[in-house]
Amino acid sequence: MASPDLAAHLSSLLPSSHPQLRDQVLPKLLACIHDIANTLRTSPSVTQIGTANAFGDNQLNVDVLAEGCIRKTIASCPSIVTASSEEDPIEKASTPSSSPGDEKYTLAFDPLDGSSIIAPNWSVGTIIGIWDSTSALHQPPSTHQIAAILGVLGPRTTAIVALRLPGTQGTCFEIGYSAAGTMQVVRPNIKLTDPTALKTRYFSPANMRAAADEPKYLHLITRFVKEKYTLRYSGGLVPDVVHALVKGHGVYISPVTAQSEAKLRRLYELAPIALVVECAGGVALDSATGDRVLERCVRDTDERGGLICGNGDEVEQVRRALIEG
Ligand SMILES: *[C@@H]1O[C@H](CO)[C@@H](O)[C@H](O)[C@H]1NC(C)=O
Repeated sequence: MASPDLAAHLSSLLPSSHPQLRDQVLPKLLACIHDIANTLRTSPSVTQIGTANAFGDNQLNVDVLAEGCIRKTIASCPSIVTASSEEDPIEKASTPSSSPGDEKYTLAFDPLDGSSIIAPNWSVGTIIGIWDSTSALHQPPSTHQIAAILGVLGPRTTAIVALRLPGTQGTCFEIGYSAAGTMQVVRPNIKLTDPTALKTRYFSPANMRAAADEPKYLHLITRFVKEKYTLRYSGGLVPDVVHALVKGHGVYISPVTAQSEAKLRRLYELAPIALVVECAGGVALDSATGDRVLERCVRDTDERGGLICGNGDEVEQVRRALIEG
């Protein structure tokens, strides 16, 4: 089932270790992204189903369908022994509960990120973190979250994969899909680089309303405007971050201010996004503290933080403006 192109790429990255991750977990989850995209495209409407998830967010019919796609994939991968998601945020052992080999993975995922822009049919995403452990909680993310997938569900379906085994630099690549779902490695090595002064520079300011009460954020945004940065912001975390990965540079900011609390969930959003950005050679900081996102263990599935991510020099300028400024 894994397309030859993807199988060859994964074999080159994992020639002798993590066979279950290489041959099952990654290819099956990547195939699942295409299923979620098809489910979305063929869903006649986007409606609230009248229930809320454990965080109190209203659930949409398509949230439940996407959750179901991933849960089905989990059930078919014996090495995924534990899973939790934004829709069902309690870590549970999956069945069958014993892995055949010595590989044991935990999945932490947000099946459909971008509920506020899904009804108008804008691009949304799926976020998956893969942890080399029987739990994602209380584990150092830098060493235990070894892979992440960002599925981009828009006019095209694509996926960004990050893979970083402890002690390695990590790698980030992009998958494209044919109509039938055949996967192709479209970019084997995604790298963020610091742009030269001449190039277009991009900024993506989430929760811009917070600038009304927080002068540091207002000054930062004003500076971007004065320096003629290009605004690229849709309100979808995945497509907005992937924009920088595709262009090769850019900065995404989700601020935390006195009036506006941290919004992004560490386990389901921040940690996988941070792994992808770091594997692409960029930097991902918590905008509340200025610390690296992946420095801190996640203790609770509802823990939240802010985000500054993108290429290093832009992130550093934003850190100074928001935290020291
Ligand atoms: C939503 O957009 C996709 C392409 O991005 C398209 O295939 C689909 O038909 C659109 N759905 C609706 C209901 O407009």
